[in-house]
Amino acid sequence: MIYNIAIDGPAGAGKSTIAKKVARELSCVYVDTGAMYRAMALYLLRRNVDRENPEEIGEVCQGAEISIEYKNGEQIVLLNGENVNPFLRREEVGNMASVSSANPKVREKLLDLQRKLAASMSVVMDGRDIGTTILPNAEVKIYLTASSLTRAERRYLELQEKGLSCDLEEIRKDIEERDSRDMNREISPLRQAEDAVLVDSSEMTIEEVVKCILQIFHEKVILSDEVGKNEG
Ligand code: DC
Repeated sequence: MIYNIAIDGPAGAGKSTIAKKVARELSCVYVDTGAMYRAMALYLLRRNVDRENPEEIGEVCQGAEISIEYKNGEQIVLLNGENVNPFLRREEVGNMASVSSANPKVREKLLDLQRKLAASMSVVMDGRDIGTTILPNAEVKIYLTASSLTRAERRYLELQEKGLSCDLEEIRKDIEERDSRDMNREISPLRQAEDAVLVDSSEMTIEEVVKCILQIFHEKVILSDEVGKNEG
């Protein structure tokens, strides 16, 4: 049986950490759609596009072919054949991705790839519009969030651990700006799907969130499959 788990939510809510662990527990594939938008943003940055010019973004993005492959369970994003994973987590790439992902031409280019992956195998896919647009029939939909202060604090600790100097208030401002762009764009804005379960991780550990999602999976997929078999 192929099943799909969609995890959406704002930047810094812990989606990728959680989604990876859930996928490992269920022995299915983790698909990071943010990385695809970041690869597209990297391409646009390399081509020096004007981020204020949607027409230029729409035109230039046509030259980017994005695909993914898996090596030892890790998702590798290929941009015109080049493994671009080492560049994707940079701050400027994330900021550009938040701008360019609002462009309909960019979204159109990535939609097919995401749907095909989910149709071919069981996946835990995270992003912003997975439950609402990409996989409206996903068996499990989670909207994972946390307060902007909690998300900023997590990011602050992450940067500090890497030995990078940073300012908590600035990080919080950046997160709130990104939320506002992701939630208020015209096409596929970030929002909770009607049938998604809201999980607020502000006061939860990673393990608690993973457990909670596995429980929801169990109720929605395993139990309902057993009920279906008994009725059939
Ligand atoms: O999750 P992330 O930070 O890697 O995502 C980078 C940007 O890509 C984010 O600002 C919004 C965008 N994005 C999107 O619009 N739709 C998705 N399904 C995933 C990410």
